[in-house]
Amino acid sequence: MSTADTKRPSLAVAILAAGLGTRMKSDRPKVLHEVCGRPMLSYVIDAALSVSPERVVVVTGPDQDAINDILPVGCERAVQQERRGTGDAVRAGLEALQGFSGDVMVLYGDVPLVDGDFVAALHERHLEDAAAATLTTIELDDPGHYGRIVRGEDGQVVRIVEHRDASPEEREIDEINVGMYVFRADALRPALDKLESDNDQGELYLTDAVHLLLAAGHAVTSFESDDEEMCMGVNSRVELAVVNAAMRRRLLERLMLAGVTVEDPETTFVDYGVEVGRDTLIRASTHLLGRTTVGAACEVGPGCFLRDAFVGDRARVVSSHLYECVIGSGCSVGPFAYIRPNTVLAEGAKAGTFVEIKNSRIGERSKVPHLSYVGDAVVGKESNIAAGNITANYDGYEKHATTIGDRVRTGSDTTIVAPVTIGDDAFTAAGSVITRDVPAGSLAVAREQQKNVEGYAERRAARRLREQQQD
Ligand code: UD1
Ligand code: CA
Repeated sequence: MSTADTKRPSLAVAILAAGLGTRMKSDRPKVLHEVCGRPMLSYVIDAALSVSPERVVVVTGPDQDAINDILPVGCERAVQQERRGTGDAVRAGLEALQGFSGDVMVLYGDVPLVDGDFVAALHERHLEDAAAATLTTIELDDPGHYGRIVRGEDGQVVRIVEHRDASPEEREIDEINVGMYVFRADALRPALDKLESDNDQGELYLTDAVHLLLAAGHAVTSFESDDEEMCMGVNSRVELAVVNAAMRRRLLERLMLAGVTVEDPETTFVDYGVEVGRDTLIRASTHLLGRTTVGAACEVGPGCFLRDAFVGDRARVVSSHLYECVIGSGCSVGPFAYIRPNTVLAEGAKAGTFVEIKNSRIGERSKVPHLSYVGDAVVGKESNIAAGNITANYDGYEKHATTIGDRVRTGSDTTIVAPVTIGDDAFTAAGSVITRDVPAGSLAVAREQQKNVEGYAERRAARRLREQQQD
């Protein structure tokens, strides 16, 4: 720790997340709604943690235990028993921070595009100005429903007025309250005690602490931002979509700058945490979701949907859906393949057109090129499952396993009735229904023998002629 650091007051962060999110019209807490596959609150927590505060307290409602599941280690939860407004929520946060003296940064859990640099800049401004409160503001072309910053003639902040409580003149103000603040804890505590609910919503507004601090003789300063994106709050699903689009663009830009070609960013969707290797080409209309990882020098898309999929290097995936699977290096998938959970395609394997594979391992360089269903199977290496093969794995009660060895060549339209094992180097004849094990190196023929009825066409034509003559 440098000497400069030792002089700094200690810092705690309170993140407000208890609101009902009424405008979301949802049964889920608002802050758990996802932005690029991740609860919006998690982004705010990340931003908070990046300034290395001593403590981070997330204020939630008593009925929001689901939020517990996403709190990282070192993050505490404070419960706001009744939703009496943002001022009351901070009070609940300070209760959890009992005995803490220093600076308290307050962030709202529904402003997910904020990042660590932004929060650090706010903190710096607060330390520079040595005020009792520093509030983040921004001028917007459309200040919408945000709280307005009222300044005096000298340009100093006088108070914040909520949109719904503002006079027509105050609504003309285009500088708004972003909802990120740093307060001196010992100044804030008494101000919160003085809050009153004489406003349109009957709530205790944190924003009213500003004029109460000024009235008590404290200095209040502002951190003026020009980054609209960082300041965007989510109150409805319309705003959620706007924020998602912005985050998606950020994630795609990060990938592109790391060496990934994104053919059409407009139609490419990536979740937070998705990794893609360099020189990979992502074609249009592709979704890479969940914990998906794509290796280097791959081509994915157009028209792919991957969720929790791992794809190795140099693989090619075209117009396919992949879920919870591992696609080895150099594999080829699609067009129009459906790769379901617990499937592993080993290096150089292929799952081709109209192929569905579930809970199976396809060995090195083995191919399932066309129109097949493979479920609960283990296929060895360099085998070829011909067109239209089916593993009949389900008897209506239980799933059964199929084992296929190395260098096996099944014939087209083979139905493999599990449980069954086909040994190494074996063949099956086209159209066979395999119900018994096939020993290594043998050919299984399990179909009717072909019978040719000679002279049939001539006899058929003669019969027709006789019938016509009788009429
Ligand atoms: C708030 C600000 C407004 C600002 C805007 C920026 C107040 C009174 N108003 O308005 O000036 O322009 O944010 O986005 O602060 N919460 C609780 N407990 C409660 C109420 C809310 O924890 O009792 C939490 C919510 O979960 C949310 C945050 O506080 O994360 C803000 O509450 P919200 O109701 O969304 O306030 P806004 O109307 O957006
Ligand atoms: Ca809000």
